[in-house]
Amino acid sequence: MVWENGCVVIVMLTPLAENGVKQCYHYWPDEGSNLYHVYEVNLVSEHIWCEDFLVRSFYLKNLQTNETRTVTQFHFLTWHDQKVPGSTRSLLDFRRYSMKYW
Ligand SMILES: *[C@@H]1O[C@H](CO)[C@@H](O)[C@H](O)[C@H]1NC(C)=O
Repeated sequence: MVWENGCVVIVMLTPLAENGVKQCYHYWPDEGSNLYHVYEVNLVSEHIWCEDFLVRSFYLKNLQTNETRTVTQFHFLTWHDQKVPGSTRSLLDFRRYSMKYW
């Protein structure tokens, strides 16, 4: 989906797990690469902005064509299920940083 639509940014608003309940598939590798069909996903960098969110950079490769792309993922960590974010400030900061990439 990311490849077909030429996505350059992923905005993720859920933590991976909450209270032991999985909320989202961990679709990027912490090291090395993950392979989905002909698409290879590599983690290039992970930058922790604050305790509420971080930014990752992925390097994607289509192994059929050898075409490569970069995708940036903004991951908000503290908006918990059926709750509101703990602080307005960090959500607005998150929006401000991520919007530069849209
Ligand atoms: C992709 O790269 C590999 C390794 O360099 C090469 O063997 C292959 O022919 C390339 N494929 C295309 C479609 O360029």
